[in-house]
Amino acid sequence: MLKNFWYAIEFSHEVERRPRKVTCLGQDFVIWRRRDGSVACLSDLCVHRGGALSMGEMVEDRIACPYHGWEYEADGACVRIPANPPGRGIPKKARVDAYPVQEKYGLVWAYLGDLPEEQRPPIPHVPEHADPSFRPVYWQTVLEANYERAMENAIDAAHTPFVHRTIMGNPDKPEIPDYEVHQSEWHAQADVLLHPPASKGLWRMLSRKRVEPVVVTNSWYLPNVVKLHIRLAFGDLIMYDHNIPLSQNRTLVKLVGYRNFFTGKWADRNAIKRIVRIFEQDRRVVESQRPELLPFDLAAELHLRSDATQIAYRRRRQELIDQGWWLGDDDKVMGDVPRREATVIASPARRDNPELARAWVHKTRGETYEPARSAE
Ligand SMILES: [Fe+2]
Repeated sequence: MLKNFWYAIEFSHEVERRPRKVTCLGQDFVIWRRRDGSVACLSDLCVHRGGALSMGEMVEDRIACPYHGWEYEADGACVRIPANPPGRGIPKKARVDAYPVQEKYGLVWAYLGDLPEEQRPPIPHVPEHADPSFRPVYWQTVLEANYERAMENAIDAAHTPFVHRTIMGNPDKPEIPDYEVHQSEWHAQADVLLHPPASKGLWRMLSRKRVEPVVVTNSWYLPNVVKLHIRLAFGDLIMYDHNIPLSQNRTLVKLVGYRNFFTGKWADRNAIKRIVRIFEQDRRVVESQRPELLPFDLAAELHLRSDATQIAYRRRRQELIDQGWWLGDDDKVMGDVPRREATVIASPARRDNPELARAWVHKTRGETYEPARSAE
């Protein structure tokens, strides 16, 4: 699992005033919508006795821990400790990690890392979201599988004739012509030629009788997003899969599907039904893959030319591992039964304030933080 990226953690339409618990990278967060409409994201771990802030209540724009009522601002600072007699100060260490948040493309994104703003990798651009010719649908599911296995499945064109033979694969034409992978620092994409059978049901109304091969564009965006652009004879279906690691072996998939045909609300259910049918075919395969985790050694599995997009991902991931961005050898998420330990991903404020950084390390486990040498 990679830190230092923006992660989509929730659909915007799910986030209200009341606190909500979300999980990503094996860690819990509390998010809520402030009165100015912005969303706050804190570590869901009260620094006092480890209460889950997400079970607490809002006091104006602050969240109050359900255990002893400590009140935290959106920047993570505790500003009220009810047990303290009047006039007693708040300890400087009374603060939880706060994560930068952006709302984009119908999703709430949190920056899970400690890099300063100018060094953070970008949120993937979704041009369809602002394009009025497209209509989105939103869907999510939990997969009992590792998020990278899920991601590789989504960018893998060669499984379509086998796993999806009843919907969009064509077992008589399983060949994948060689394709080129176009890669940049945070993204890779490839156009692959597929031979799907004719659409059935509602979408058949739009299909011509003879089905041409279609170009499917498969892309990944680090750390966990896959974009599939399927050019049907009658329009475009563009799906963004956000593969959110709940732990090493559980993934929350949040999917946004854009289409520029049948753009009335009435056709949403049908579009979701099709996405779910495809997804459930993948689920069987991905949940049974062994080993559960994606190998680190490229040579541990066999690769063909048709796997080039996945190989590009594995190589790029290795570079980031070498750079120290990997989280994941923590036994909390490695075992079958997760233990309830308290780990916190270092937030940007720790880098800005080495004094706090040192204080917090005592309070948290898992993530170690070295204060910048210049600040010593
Ligand atoms: Fe699939």
